[in-house]
Amino acid sequence: MPNKFTRRFISMLGLVASLEAAQAQHKVTLHPEAPTQTINRNIYGHFAEHLGNCIYGGFYVGDTSNIPHVNGVRKDIIAALKNLKVPNLRWPGGCFADTYHWKDGIGPKDKRPTIVNTWWGGVTENNSFGTHDFLNMCEELGAEPYLAGNVGSGTVQELSDWVQYVNFPGKSPMSDLRQQNGRQQPWKVRYWGVGNEAWGCGGNMRPEYYADIFRKYATFMSGNTFKIASGANSSDYNWTEVLMKNIPLHMLDGLALHHYAVINWDKKGDAVDFTEEQYFQTMRSACFMDTLVRRHSAIMDKYDPKKKVALVVDEWGGWYNVQAGTNPGFLFQQNTMRDAMIAGVTLNIFNNHSDRVRMANLAQTVNVLQAVVLTKGEQLILTPTYHVMEMYNVHQDATLIPVDVQSDNYTYKGEQLQAVTASASKDKSGATHISLVNIDAAKAREITVATGAAYHSVTGRILSSAKLQDCNSFTQPEKIKPVAFKDAVLKNNTVTVKLPPFSVVVLELK
Ligand code: AHR
Repeated sequence: MPNKFTRRFISMLGLVASLEAAQAQHKVTLHPEAPTQTINRNIYGHFAEHLGNCIYGGFYVGDTSNIPHVNGVRKDIIAALKNLKVPNLRWPGGCFADTYHWKDGIGPKDKRPTIVNTWWGGVTENNSFGTHDFLNMCEELGAEPYLAGNVGSGTVQELSDWVQYVNFPGKSPMSDLRQQNGRQQPWKVRYWGVGNEAWGCGGNMRPEYYADIFRKYATFMSGNTFKIASGANSSDYNWTEVLMKNIPLHMLDGLALHHYAVINWDKKGDAVDFTEEQYFQTMRSACFMDTLVRRHSAIMDKYDPKKKVALVVDEWGGWYNVQAGTNPGFLFQQNTMRDAMIAGVTLNIFNNHSDRVRMANLAQTVNVLQAVVLTKGEQLILTPTYHVMEMYNVHQDATLIPVDVQSDNYTYKGEQLQAVTASASKDKSGATHISLVNIDAAKAREITVATGAAYHSVTGRILSSAKLQDCNSFTQPEKIKPVAFKDAVLKNNTVTVKLPPFSVVVLELK
């Protein structure tokens, strides 16, 4: 039988061991020595559809508006998106793209025909925001345009004409028309979607049929065009398999994937007034992006081991019930700390899989779904999602540093999700950035980050709030915004970080 000193010694050992175990549960190890790749800035892309108040009443207020604008586009939105470093913008849809005839949106505005926006609220679309408006706006933003072509109700000729209209420098019927409409030089649009959700609103096609349709359309899209095939709906792995098998690699540059963080399509729940259970379910759907990216990538690897084709997640984000009292077809929802968690977790997934995920588009930029900007008359607010994307823009075009994350779980009623996720990169100036997310609704996490290299300073910013349901509003526009982070200590190439519940932290090491 051990005496009382031995017993005390043994129990101290136990304490040390359990403290070590607790620390080891939350450890992020950087591997700067591992071979890696650039995080394509296009992962931080956005999406603007003719839907609700995204374009009309959002970006575009028209050139007679009292709201300060450049050619009808709000100056405050331009400034906010420039600050975000939006690398690319997808337009005009979404489902709308497969009803859109681009020639309706060129020439004198008072001569443009109207159509009915059958997908979104059945409102009349007057086509006052068209190709020139969008492409000039992208120039103003410094963002690359990503045009989604109409395959569902358009023709091969129509899409091939659009390519010639916006891209051809010499003399041709379409470039002559462009010049008559006031634009001499082509815009040189590189990114082209060949339809949208061909399995659904884009035509309810089978993958075998769409693969052939894609081949036909791509054949007539001339010049330097990066052609993106309409991709799978979430876990429809067969869609990816059939497309990769049947489309020759030389015709295909990108394959899309759409996945929304949704609790249940029939019971999406309120955007602000949600329970912890609903939060957990939303996060489960958001975290599922990791499985989706891995499994779609594995299929792509079989047909394209050199990873020539990019996985383009051109629609992602949280989707809830529309705000009470708003048009159900306009998909307007508020944006809370839950959305900040979706953004942080998802962007970490994309960064860590940037060998294959080389483009992505959050749905949608202004006033629709997981928006980064909300407007009301003259007012504009930045959402928590905006702030996460701004904090993370340090990763754009930086070199990925692979990370190992050891984390315990966020547990809710016996179900579990990994609490802490991370990604890291080194930028051109030599600074290393680490983004850390703790999705736990209640528990803080103390994390040790083994940096794998020598640094002399650590600084950081944090986005957090008192309640998960907190949001920015037109009466309290700055309730949630990033502030300096003080809970990071650097010692012997290790950073110790205290992450509050449901928080996002981005550290800078020099
Ligand atoms: O982003 C809203 C809609 O969601 C898009 O129009 C469509 O592609 C998707 O189903």
